[in-house]
Amino acid sequence: GTPVAHVLARVQNADTEPRGEILQLYVDPDHWGRSYGRTLLAVGTRALHRSGCDTAELWVLDGNNRAIDLYERAGWQLDGRREVHVVFGIDAPEIAMSTTLTGPDVVRDNRAFWDDQAAWYATKADAAWSRTPRWGIFGIDDADVSIFPDVADLDVVELGCGTGYVSGWALATGARSAVGIDNSPKQLATAQAMAAKHERSLPFVHGDAHRLPFADRSFDVAINEYGAAIWCDPHIWIPEAARVLRPGGLLWFLGNSVQLMLCMAEFWDEPAGTALRRPLRGLGHMTWLDTADSEFHVSHGEMISILTRSGFAVEALHELYAPEGATSDYGFVGAEWGSQWPVEEVWVARRR
Ligand SMILES: C[S@@+](CC[C@H](N)C(=O)[O-])C[C@H]1O[C@@H](n2cnc3c(N)ncnc32)[C@H](O)[C@@H]1O
Repeated sequence: GTPVAHVLARVQNADTEPRGEILQLYVDPDHWGRSYGRTLLAVGTRALHRSGCDTAELWVLDGNNRAIDLYERAGWQLDGRREVHVVFGIDAPEIAMSTTLTGPDVVRDNRAFWDDQAAWYATKADAAWSRTPRWGIFGIDDADVSIFPDVADLDVVELGCGTGYVSGWALATGARSAVGIDNSPKQLATAQAMAAKHERSLPFVHGDAHRLPFADRSFDVAINEYGAAIWCDPHIWIPEAARVLRPGGLLWFLGNSVQLMLCMAEFWDEPAGTALRRPLRGLGHMTWLDTADSEFHVSHGEMISILTRSGFAVEALHELYAPEGATSDYGFVGAEWGSQWPVEEVWVARRR
């Protein structure tokens, strides 16, 4: 494509007291009014916060009220400084604006992200509900990997159920009961419509998997595919899952593999390559520059430690590769990559 906007941010005093600056933010006038400025400003400030800045400043041409309005709506404030700077060889009177940079509010920001994504996921929900289990990005047929647990006559809870098809599969394969919990009201609206359409008696609860609204020892199986597995802090949601499971209960969750997270590019539609893009040490809470959502990924060693400390014994770690002929709807990883490294991993652990 043709670039139509750009943002340039820099960190001053990186070694002492880092202070961020949005140095340039330009949008081609033919593309004004499409939120590119607001989006790129958010990208720039996220990058500055990630680089260790708690505050940021910018200079804007005095009288550029359109830009000042954009910054004010994003929480920036005029701080009273006015200087004449040379911009493109011309003396320009500029005024300074400042802001405080705060980290994400994980549950709130992820709810907004998922409410936003819900319409797209709704288009895929009926197909998922209508078929037998298929997993992850490449739609791996469970018949080929046999990883869906035996839930016959068991009480199942799905943590971060999205459109609820995993709960639907649990009931279809004989679960005594299933309950789905999710942080996004819009995802739950689709889940409810699907349960009605597929004539499943299945309560869906709006809530946060970090703080489950269920009594201790309520379930035999806690499951999720790309739910709490990646959207919740494992140091919190895994002990919560342990609390609501009965002794001997099963924890089963699928998310991106650690290998993929190390090689994943910075932007959603850029495919993972073969270079390591980030350290394994300190992986944990991950935020993206292009979207405001937060994910959690930890090393295998740390995951074993969390599971063990939470009262689980690890039974399996399944690694899922792209099957032959697979295609991906997701720009961040292709089948070629996924045929060589696992794109997803599934942890299976038993409550002691
Ligand atoms: C990718 S969907 C998972 C559902 C489904 N298996 C799928 O792959 O489409 C991720 C879901 O996790 C939910 N989620 C994110 N954070 C959550 C939290 N703190 N508590 C409960 N659900 C959460 C999102 O709202 C979203 O519906």
